[in-house]
Amino acid sequence: MKIDILTLFPGMFEGFLNESIIKRAIDKKVVEINLVNFRDFSKLNNSQVDDTPYGGGSGMVLMPGPIVDAIDAYRKPFTKVILMCPQGKVYNERKAHELKEEKHIILVCGHYEGFDERIREFVDEEISIGDYILTGGEIPAMVVSDSIIRLLDGVIKKESYLEESFTNNLLDYPVYTKPRNFRGFKVPDILLSGDHKKIDEWRKSEQLKKTEQKRIDLLK
Ligand SMILES: C[S@@+](CC[C@H](N)C(=O)[O-])C[C@H]1O[C@@H](n2cnc3c(N)ncnc32)[C@H](O)[C@@H]1O
Repeated sequence: MKIDILTLFPGMFEGFLNESIIKRAIDKKVVEINLVNFRDFSKLNNSQVDDTPYGGGSGMVLMPGPIVDAIDAYRKPFTKVILMCPQGKVYNERKAHELKEEKHIILVCGHYEGFDERIREFVDEEISIGDYILTGGEIPAMVVSDSIIRLLDGVIKKESYLEESFTNNLLDYPVYTKPRNFRGFKVPDILLSGDHKKIDEWRKSEQLKKTEQKRIDLLK
């Protein structure tokens, strides 16, 4: 899979791309991530990419030209172009599973007050990572990329994500490690029993219990 990220601030991705699981996925060539500074597509003298809004109002608005030219330069017939936008459909694990099947994704990061409305005409969909406003689309692009990359073959063990929260609309079961007794809180006896059938049953019932307690909406 290839992900092109269109951003004015490629430096924000440094840590994301150079640490832990994402770095390993890139090194193993499971995914290629390409940062594109769409300022390079500005045709104006000072590489300007934004301007004041028509009709007045606060903040600067990203002009359509540089972003759409950057999309045109990287888009292939099979590419999915996604705008990071708080007005988009709210992201979830199901969407991550859907996007992991794509060969090529372009993520467009807005900034400042936002982008010229006409940019929406040139993207396939809009994704929000939740009902709050961030300073730019860079963190949302990292969230979306991270959640997709960990699902790609060879990145983490399939068993790991098949049992995780939101798969099958359930939250994950409780997990414990050493010590057996931490400040009086003990590891449940069943996990020390060695009876794997019983452990599986316990985990399934804990998943259901937790989901009912914390996220009843997932069961509806
Ligand atoms: C300050 S926000 C603009 C918000 C815009 N004025 C609005 O109210 O809808 C700047 C950029 O950050 C990104 N962004 C902010 N919050 C986001 C969210 N919850 N999900 C996805 N992208 C977000 C978008 O790319 C957006 O264009």
